[in-house]
Amino acid sequence: MKTQLWRLAGNEEDGRKLREAAALLRNGEVVAFPTETVYGLGANGLDADAVRRIFAAKGRPADNPLILHIAEKNEIKDLASGLTPNAIALAEAFWPGPLTLVIKSSGVVPDEVTAGLDTVAVRMPNHEVARELIRLAGCPLAAPSANKSGRPSPTKAQDVLEDMDGLIAGILDGGGCAIGVESTVVDTTLPVPMILRPGGITREMLEEVVGAVGLDPALESDKEAVPRAPGMKYRHYAPKAPMYLLVGRDADIHLARLAQLLTSRGVKVGIVTDEKDAFAALPEGLAEVKTYGGLLPVLAGKLYQWLREFDRAGVAVILAKGVPENGLGLAVMNRLRKAAGNNVLLAEGQNLLVQSGTRPDII
Ligand code: TXA
Ligand code: MG
Repeated sequence: MKTQLWRLAGNEEDGRKLREAAALLRNGEVVAFPTETVYGLGANGLDADAVRRIFAAKGRPADNPLILHIAEKNEIKDLASGLTPNAIALAEAFWPGPLTLVIKSSGVVPDEVTAGLDTVAVRMPNHEVARELIRLAGCPLAAPSANKSGRPSPTKAQDVLEDMDGLIAGILDGGGCAIGVESTVVDTTLPVPMILRPGGITREMLEEVVGAVGLDPALESDKEAVPRAPGMKYRHYAPKAPMYLLVGRDADIHLARLAQLLTSRGVKVGIVTDEKDAFAALPEGLAEVKTYGGLLPVLAGKLYQWLREFDRAGVAVILAKGVPENGLGLAVMNRLRKAAGNNVLLAEGQNLLVQSGTRPDII
């Protein structure tokens, strides 16, 4: 299949490009589009055959349900069989935006979208291209992140092309995604709403609107519980190189020491940390150092991009420093942990202990 790439340029040509993309969607084809979080792989969410094409392109397990994207708040009514007051309050407060509401599903939503659950996930994205495409297609768009299953989510059209060229009908290039991590998924059918996947809207922000909000126990690092969002059980967001996440009060010192050790043996490392200073002396060509100056929105915005850059640069090991798990830090740590396949090392004093996963065999 030839994958069409439409570059949106902010001029009068954009309307025609969007109409072409929408026509393909109405025809049951798959088209990738930008949102404020990550690029989505869209198809008509009410057409079971179209939705199956998403799963095929992505290589996604069929037991992992999709999010339906809508252009206007009131479009949720047709998809829901009854909305709780919490669902309404959260939609009022955060839509359009990076929040996905899990609600009781109505009969119009195919099982291919919900994976046979009696709930459906719905989101109204805060991106004009996404909403205009939904309006022109005339249906809710089912859309997972537009990466191959297991790969880092795409935050640029180029990343989508890398994973999906030849597999889908088209890609709308609307530039980079502002937030860079996926939406927060909240189950609003429970008496106390529960975060199933942390994301762009923080727990603290949700609690300001609806009071106490729970966290799926499976999201806590030391729990073995089965996650309620089926997608959260898979290894995810993963670069090709093995990755290790360093936490604890002496993470900085151990990160610098490991980087030194690996590069001295000729091993190329990728590093994600807040400041560059400690890594200035590493040998040229053997270290890709990515820093965010301690600013979490910058880290969230760049993380998937950096993981893909490490792959392209052929780094052999990735080392990342953990962040405090509040505010946006909860979502960032969730993605870091998953990208690292849960390889977490605890740095305290002289000791570097395995908190979970495996120890780098090079040490
Ligand atoms: O920011 C985002 O949410 C992006 C953009 C494209 O909108 N989409 C995205 O979709 O991240 P995806 O398919 O990669 O992740 C959807 C998550 C999965 O973890 C899935 O298991 C969960 O939402 N989910 C979907 N429907 C659900 C349901 N009915 N109950 C529980 N979890 C659900
Ligand atoms: Mg995804």
